[in-house]
Amino acid sequence: MSVLIKDGHIVTAADDYVADILIEGETVAEIGKSLDVSADRVIDASGKYVIPGAIDPHTHMEMPFGGTVTCDDFTSGTTSAAFGGVTSLIDFCLQTPGQSIPDALATWHEKIERCPPVIDVGFHMAITDLHDGGKLEDVAKVPDQGVTSYKLFMAYKGAIMVDDETLFRTMQVAAETGALVMVHAENGDVIDVLVKQALAEGKTEPKWHAATRPPHTEGEATSRAITLAHLAGCPLYVVHVSCEESIAPVAAARAAGWRIWGETCTQYLFIEQKDLEEPDFQGAKYVFTPPPRPPHNHESLWRALNNGVLSAVSSDHCPFRIADQKTLGKGDFSKIPNGGPGIENRLHMLHHFGVREGRMSMNHLVDLCCTQPAKLFGLFPRKGTIAVGSDADIVVWDSDKHLTLSAKTHHTNVDYNLFEGTEVVGAPELVLLRGQVIVDGDELVASPGAGQFLSRARFGQPLETQDAKVAS
Ligand code: URP
Ligand code: ZN
Ligand code: ZN
Repeated sequence: MSVLIKDGHIVTAADDYVADILIEGETVAEIGKSLDVSADRVIDASGKYVIPGAIDPHTHMEMPFGGTVTCDDFTSGTTSAAFGGVTSLIDFCLQTPGQSIPDALATWHEKIERCPPVIDVGFHMAITDLHDGGKLEDVAKVPDQGVTSYKLFMAYKGAIMVDDETLFRTMQVAAETGALVMVHAENGDVIDVLVKQALAEGKTEPKWHAATRPPHTEGEATSRAITLAHLAGCPLYVVHVSCEESIAPVAAARAAGWRIWGETCTQYLFIEQKDLEEPDFQGAKYVFTPPPRPPHNHESLWRALNNGVLSAVSSDHCPFRIADQKTLGKGDFSKIPNGGPGIENRLHMLHHFGVREGRMSMNHLVDLCCTQPAKLFGLFPRKGTIAVGSDADIVVWDSDKHLTLSAKTHHTNVDYNLFEGTEVVGAPELVLLRGQVIVDGDELVASPGAGQFLSRARFGQPLETQDAKVAS
């Protein structure tokens, strides 16, 4: 099957030009002006952006957490992703404390077999226990299975939080195996004290979620993780940076030339701490971790994205229904399952409020949502750009399409939208995964199983394209 995308305005992290793209099979075969070729399908992309399929490096599908399970499985979650122009995601395979690492990986593979994805899916290994279940020798073998990043939680005491010994030992293994370490950086011990004190004083509403996780708890843990990674000699990626207190240590480490990267998530650019005060328990919709912050942090995050301190924007899609899951924490904010949805709206929000409102270029949006995630997580140059030999993961983006973001129309299983009622201009018109159209306007045209498991390269190593494989 061949596809010719004609006259599109191609935007990659580096380029911006009008040309045709010929796709043969799953990969890009040729790019050029007015290509004189025939194809099985011709797509007229004149007046449209043509960008690489986005990569979401931070999602939680069907994950047991907070006394319940996130309400998207890999079929529903990847369907939602596809409508947002996402063609690859990397999900956290969570070792439940006491479980062995091979068992955890097998559990996540079982999830994608049972609920097959419509886009490509890779895993990070989230290590929660090296005392009872996990063994360092098993951790060392994980990258051989195409899972080339380890994630550790420095918060969620009594559940999935790790101690510094576990964190540091994993970092030492990563330095040996060439894996990237990712951290959820918050001081879980201090937060635990603050939560207990708040509850003892009868402070039970959702707004206390933010009050008991002040920005310095994030800043301290970020600095600690950076120091430990530097000592261990491994690269480090700090997930969901939300505030100035954690931007600063990332900036300092990068300025010193340390191998440190950071991401923020869409919600931290838009949702505010005071949204947690919405009446009738509606504030629980915004209980995600780290919490939403006062708005001066939004501007600091945009600046950190623009000056290269932060390298990526993810969704941290971790959906729990407001009707019957968030309610586990009615009367006790600490029992509200932590997490929010957002996989479908990352490009909508960044394009409208970032590109259209002049905060960033379209090239930069592509860099943050496609190219950097591909490079950092061992998918480049197969993914994350539009180039000869790369997978034909392509979004034809209509920058004039009007859309109102809403739970009534989004495609995730969750019953609310963090950006409910927000009007944006710009949305995918067509989404192609490895040369196959998977979304056409408002219609999903892929079947579950269109997506494949992504075996990723080790940190800093290129992932071979089809062409490179043929040549070698
Ligand atoms: O609240 C959040 N972010 N839930 C998902 C788990 C995590 O911390 O990433
Ligand atoms: Zn986290
Ligand atoms: Zn997360």
